[in-house]
Amino acid sequence: MFGSGSDSMHLPDYKEARTRDRRNYKRVHFNFDKNIKDKYRGKTFYLKTYGCQMNEHDSENIEALLIQLGFSKVDDYSIADLVLLNTCSIRENAHNKAFGMLGRLKHLKQEKKDLIVGLCGCMAQESSVVEEILRDYKWVNFVFGTHNMYQLPNIIDKAIEENKQQIEVYSREGDLVEGLPVNRVNSYKAYVNIIYGCNKFCTYCVVPYTRGRERSREKDDILKEVRQLIADGYKEITLLGQNVNAYGKDLYEDYTLANLLEDIAKMKIPRIRFTTSHPWDFTDHMIEVIGKYDNIMPSVHLPVQSGSSRILKLMGRRYTKESYLELFHKIKRVVPGVSISTDIIVGFPGEEEHDFLETLDLVHTCKYDNAFTFIFSKREGTPACKLEDHTPLKEKEERLQRLNEVVNQYFLENNKKLEGKILPVLVEGVSDKKNMYYGYSDTNKLVNFTSNKEINTGEIVDVSIITAKTWSLDGEVVE
Ligand code: SAH
Ligand code: SF4
Ligand code: F3S
Repeated sequence: MFGSGSDSMHLPDYKEARTRDRRNYKRVHFNFDKNIKDKYRGKTFYLKTYGCQMNEHDSENIEALLIQLGFSKVDDYSIADLVLLNTCSIRENAHNKAFGMLGRLKHLKQEKKDLIVGLCGCMAQESSVVEEILRDYKWVNFVFGTHNMYQLPNIIDKAIEENKQQIEVYSREGDLVEGLPVNRVNSYKAYVNIIYGCNKFCTYCVVPYTRGRERSREKDDILKEVRQLIADGYKEITLLGQNVNAYGKDLYEDYTLANLLEDIAKMKIPRIRFTTSHPWDFTDHMIEVIGKYDNIMPSVHLPVQSGSSRILKLMGRRYTKESYLELFHKIKRVVPGVSISTDIIVGFPGEEEHDFLETLDLVHTCKYDNAFTFIFSKREGTPACKLEDHTPLKEKEERLQRLNEVVNQYFLENNKKLEGKILPVLVEGVSDKKNMYYGYSDTNKLVNFTSNKEINTGEIVDVSIITAKTWSLDGEVVE
């Protein structure tokens, strides 16, 4: 069994995360420790990823690091030698899922004494989580945070060699590490980080604490990565950041996301996407560039969170319902055929029925193409956690249901307008259920379609849309 605690732990600290100062980040190149390369050949790992695209992409790095250590990947946790959970803190249910999995792993570990279990990602940055692990999960072998993912090989090696729990979490971001190996999920679409962290501190959100302050990658590093992806035959890249609109502000006087998008668009990759963009610093220049280049996909995720300016203020979102709508209409005007999706939170502390009706009203105006809707979840250490909240959960659940009925109605209404149209679709494969090809249109709609001739994954084909559904479109390939 593992001992309790470790000699030299680094524990997370929200106070430190909150009082981050402006610092100059060193950009360093990652080198794999040669002494432990392939050390664990013959062993297997299972990696479970929760949360957003940022975590999915981190997992692509984590996998590559584990493979360099010698581990090979399995899809069944019960047969793995190492199980790693890359966790998310955004809402309570994300927490519950990870702890539920830890419960199952505890049983497994009772049968398989040599099983190594680790936890990383956003939950690892939360002091309450790490305290709980130290107290009740002494059998968890190692924990590391979002800022020191690159140390994974040595942390795992130490946990195994010393047979002692390793907790290595830093609340201040360290250097910006370039050159991490990556094992991409597929060979035709790729995530590319452009900015890490978030400085917005929306009052409900843990991300600024778990991911640190905004740090942009140097443009030359990004362009080099994109150039390589094009050479490798990739068709689509998604530029990633919690707020991509802030790209470059910490590095350059006059190089922004608009400039970066334009430079990448000129490189002739067929499809460019970006996510997520905060409505607050969405510039006219960006809208102009998105409208100008055919290979920047006409699809924008523009989270509104609430339709009530009073609630937006309490959320610290830095825009009003009116200024959001102005931006929304400007994007619709300048980018032909653009689809706009959003995120909405119901039941924020103090949200009254009239605030919620303003949200419904805004949805009727915007008629979103897609929307992710959530009930407010209290996150420890965030300002909204301390706000008084009188609304019973049942009422919040009813609001969510009412909201979902309205958003769904517009998904279908928008999709119906596409019947009879021809859309370009990037083919992702054949769905088991329907035995039809599937892929995503330029406007990010899921399209299921038939074809008489065989089509390869990663091809972009024209599909004639026959039937619209709420969450997908059915069609046939244009011969
Ligand atoms: N950076 C992105 C959002 C990332 S989190 C942006 O600001 O646009 C994804 C979504 O989760 C948010 O847009 C918000 O709708 C939701 N979310 C974040 N914190 C939440 C909380 N405490 N409770 C409920 N939903 C939350
Ligand atoms: Fe969270 Fe707001 Fe930052 Fe988005 S912009 S990650 S909601 S703090
Ligand atoms: Fe979750 Fe962290 Fe992403 S909290 S949503 S995995 S940045």
